[in-house]
Amino acid sequence: MKLEPFAMERMQSTYENEVEFNLSESGVYPLSVRELLADPREMDGLLDQALVYTQSNGTRALRASVAALYPGATADHVEVTNGGSEANYIVTWKLVEPGDEVVLMVPNYMQTWGLARAFGGTVREWRLREDAATRRWDVDTDDLARLVTPKTKLIIICTPNNPTGARLTERELDTICRVAGRHGTWVLSDEIYRGAERDGRESPSVWGRYERVIVTSGLSKAYGLPGLRIGWIVAPPEFVASTWSYHDYTTIAPGALSDLLARVALVPERRQVLLGRTRAIVRDNFPVLEQWLGSQAGAFEWIQPEAGAICFARYHYAINSLELAHRLRTEKSVLIVPGDHFGMDRFIRFGYGERPDYLRAGLARVSEVLATIPLASAAARA
Ligand SMILES: Cc1ncc(COP(=O)(O)O)c(C=O)c1O
Repeated sequence: MKLEPFAMERMQSTYENEVEFNLSESGVYPLSVRELLADPREMDGLLDQALVYTQSNGTRALRASVAALYPGATADHVEVTNGGSEANYIVTWKLVEPGDEVVLMVPNYMQTWGLARAFGGTVREWRLREDAATRRWDVDTDDLARLVTPKTKLIIICTPNNPTGARLTERELDTICRVAGRHGTWVLSDEIYRGAERDGRESPSVWGRYERVIVTSGLSKAYGLPGLRIGWIVAPPEFVASTWSYHDYTTIAPGALSDLLARVALVPERRQVLLGRTRAIVRDNFPVLEQWLGSQAGAFEWIQPEAGAICFARYHYAINSLELAHRLRTEKSVLIVPGDHFGMDRFIRFGYGERPDYLRAGLARVSEVLATIPLASAAARA
């Protein structure tokens, strides 16, 4: 198997804990264990938890809590993984074989793009477009219908989307499922940003719209708990049962402490508090970023993200995005994600989920570098 580098993760893994200002993160600043465990008795529970190999597909209690988020699902519809990334890995590994076609919504978290190709699939890109009239990132379902063929094993979507923060509508999800149904194609929907909406309205899920849907998600983004490394697959029980044995070859089981803390996070009242915290952060922080973008002399254009602590902004500076990211990191110790990591030069993905003072200070450093770069000519922009 030949793996192409997963450029964004490689950059983040290398530098995110080295720089002074990490504006590359797509989630909100994480909670501590103390903040998560509101009740001191829960702390005792954590300290008394034996460091066993816990149930390898997730404890039944945790799987039941996850299942409760998806109408009609039971614990048997759920497999708990180490992060949403392992969930995506296992599903792609299980489904994609040489010769298969995979239709992938782009831009996207490029993990499944790299994996589908590594497993011998051909990726056909289904492109989100900037709709100037609606100020929305839009999809064309007719394009999707053209891309899906009898060889399409899997359609992969990400909603709310990384990097744009756009969410698909109920209608769009229904159409995607209808198109998939023509050839029995599976639909993998990465919904890890669901619950992190700026307007507080939960994004629609693909769950329940078609018999061959697989949802991947986890606690890293909307819940502010990336260090737990808890993710999940929700799918028909036969599919979940078949992927469990793949898990034996990756990490065997989630950490026992993480399984326990995830159960705490998903107690309904606690879950609401966590999602409320995330939504408050994205709601309150976005104006800080937006004000800064607007103050850069017309050099940025952006569509407001609906969910997630990320904004994918087009810029008009005469510089390639990888080079800009390099300069920001080496000259100012600021990490941002260049559009090139999504195959879209002249874009930057800003993460705005940090504390406001930190965000302002990081952006001020970005301004210092931008002040040294000329704007692109109108001809170069066209
Ligand atoms: C869409 C998407 N899915 C999955 C992941 C990885 O999630 P985790 O950290 O839970 O492995 C990310 C991380 O940025 C993501 O953006």
